[in-house]
Amino acid sequence: MPLPDAFLQELKARSDLVEIASSYVSLKRSGKNMVGLCPFHSEKTPSFNIYPDNGSFYCFGCGVGGDVITFVRRIENLDYMEAIRFLAQRAGLTVPENRADDGMSRLRTRILALNRETARFYYGVLKSDAGAAGREYFARRALKPETIRHFGLGFSPPGRFSLVDYLERKGFTQQEMILANVAFQSRRGRAVDRFYGRVMFPIIDLRGNVVAFGGRTLGDDKPKYLNTSETPVFSKGDMLFALNFAKNGNQGRLILCEGYMDVISMHQAGFTDAVATLGTALTPSQARLMSRYAKEVVVSYDADEAGQKAASRAIPLLRSAGLLVRVLTIEGGKDPDEYIKAYGPVKFRQMLDACGNDVEYRLRKVRAGCDLQTAEGRVAYLRGASQVLASLENRVEREVYAGKVAGETGIETATLLAQVQAGSRKLEKNRRRKEFREIRRQAAGYRDGINPEKMENLRAASAEEALIAYLVRNPDDGKRIFQALPPEKFVTGFNRRVYERIMGRIMEGKPVSLTDFSEGFTEDELSAVAGILARHDGLPDGRKDAEEYIRVILQEKDSRGLGDAAAAGPGEIEDYLEKLRQQKK
Ligand code: UTP
Ligand code: MN
Repeated sequence: MPLPDAFLQELKARSDLVEIASSYVSLKRSGKNMVGLCPFHSEKTPSFNIYPDNGSFYCFGCGVGGDVITFVRRIENLDYMEAIRFLAQRAGLTVPENRADDGMSRLRTRILALNRETARFYYGVLKSDAGAAGREYFARRALKPETIRHFGLGFSPPGRFSLVDYLERKGFTQQEMILANVAFQSRRGRAVDRFYGRVMFPIIDLRGNVVAFGGRTLGDDKPKYLNTSETPVFSKGDMLFALNFAKNGNQGRLILCEGYMDVISMHQAGFTDAVATLGTALTPSQARLMSRYAKEVVVSYDADEAGQKAASRAIPLLRSAGLLVRVLTIEGGKDPDEYIKAYGPVKFRQMLDACGNDVEYRLRKVRAGCDLQTAEGRVAYLRGASQVLASLENRVEREVYAGKVAGETGIETATLLAQVQAGSRKLEKNRRRKEFREIRRQAAGYRDGINPEKMENLRAASAEEALIAYLVRNPDDGKRIFQALPPEKFVTGFNRRVYERIMGRIMEGKPVSLTDFSEGFTEDELSAVAGILARHDGLPDGRKDAEEYIRVILQEKDSRGLGDAAAAGPGEIEDYLEKLRQQKK
C-alpha cells in the first residue's frame, strides 16, 4: 500500500532539498539553481546541480539524481521507508501507520534489534563470572572500565549455543541470527554461535545502531579478528569504527588508524577524534564520509611495511575527497596503541603536533632510499621528488617544496620546477583523459541499463525526453498533449513508462514531481528521470516546442515501422523480429 498522497506532498513541502543538501554539500548559487561538488563521487569541478524549481538534483559527472527522498536515501544509506521516516522526523510529521513496510526495511529493523540484544549479551557476559578471561585480557591491554563501557565491549562465551539460546529466548529466529551473521548454519541446519571465546567490539553507525561486530581471540590463533561480513545493515567499506563518537567536537580533524585497539587506546588517552577502517583498505566512500566531518585527516597507520604501504594508498583517496592530509610516522616500529602504552599520551600528542603533511611524508620516503652524498643518489632523489611534486595540483605548494628539494640537492629551484611542470602537464592530461573515459563509461552504462532502446532511437528518445521535461514544467498543458500523443506512440519503453506515470498524475489533477517516481521506479531509474529534467533545465519550452516534439515522435514511430513492435511485450517483439527476418529471406 503506497503512502497517502497528501502525506507525501506535505512531507515534500516541508523538506527543502537545498536546505537539506546544504548540510552535506557546500553549494553555490548559479542563476536560479545551486551547484556544488558531488557528494556521490569524487570530483574537482562541481557538476552536482540542484533545481529548486522542481525539487530535483542531478550530477552530470556520475549520473546520480532524484528528489529529496532519493538524496536522503543515497547520502544516509537508507531504504525508502527509512528515508521517509528520517524526513518526517525532521519535519515534525508522523508517518501514517497501517502501511505494511516493505520486507527489506522490516528485516533491517529486526537485525538492528537483534544486534543490540547481542551487544547487550556480550557486554553482560564480560561482567559475569563467564567473562573473567575477557576482563583479564582487557586489563592486560590497559583498558579502563569506563572505556569498556563507553565502547560497549564484551565477551563471547566459549559455548556453541550461548548466544543462539539467548536470542531465541528474546524471540529472534535462527534465520534472523544467520542473516545478521552472529550465527552460522551447521550442516544439520541449526544456528551455531559464530563468535566464541573472543573479546567483542561492537561496530556502531552514526545513528547509534549496532550494525556489526569484530571479535578478537585472546591468544594467537587465526583469524586474529573475526568480523561480521556484509549484512542487510552493514557494508564495511562505507563506515568507520568510532566515527559515531569522533564526528562530534573533533575541531575539523580526524585521526585515521588501522585497528580497533588503536582507536580505543587513543580515545582513552583523550584523542577522541580517532577512527579506523574495518579490516580493509580505505575506500573512496570512507574518504568522502570523513570529508563530511573534518577538513584534515592525520593518517596514523602502523609503522610496519604493510602499514606504510596502506598509508601511501590512502593519501591520494583522502586528497581527492578534498581533505588536507598529514601523516604520522611512529618511531620505534610500534602501532599507536603500543606507542601510547609505552610512552604516554603527552609524547603522542607532541608527535601528532609535529607530524608533517603528506607531501613531506612522501618526499621523506623517497629520500630514505637515496644516498645524497653521491651524484647518483641525488639524481635518483630528484627524479623521485619531481614525480611527487608533479602530482600536486596547487602551484604554491609545488613551489614551496621544490625550493626545499632544490636546497637539499644544491640545484636551482627553477631548473627543478621546469622538470616538474613538464611532468605535471602529462599527469594532468592523463587525469583528464581518465576522468573523461570514466564519465563516458558511466554515461553509456547508465543509458544502456535504464533505457536500452535510446541508442538505437536517439532522435525519438530526445524528443520524448524533451516532452517529458516540458510536461513536468507545464502540467496545465497535459490534457491537450495526451490527446495528441497517447503513450503507445512513444518509441522507447522507459520513456513511455515515465510518460504514463506523469499522465496518470495530471489526469487525477495532482501535482507532478520526482517524488511520484519513488514507488515503482528503481533508484537508477529515478536518476535517469532527474537527468532528463536536468538536461532540459532552462531550455525554451513554449507550446510550439511541445508540438514539435510530438511531431518528431510520431514521425519516428512511423518511419521505423515500429508501429506495433514497440508497444508489444518482449515475446511479441521476438515474434515480430522473426517475421521481419523471414521477409528478408
Ligand atoms: P592489526 O593486526 O594491526 O590489529 O589489524 P590491531 O588493531 O593492532 O590489534 P591488536 O593490537 O593486535 O589487538 C588492524 C585491523 O585490521 C583488522 C581489524 O580491524 C584490526 O583492528 N583485522 C586484522 C581483521 O579484520 N582481521 C584480522 O585477522 C586481523
Ligand atoms: Mn595493535
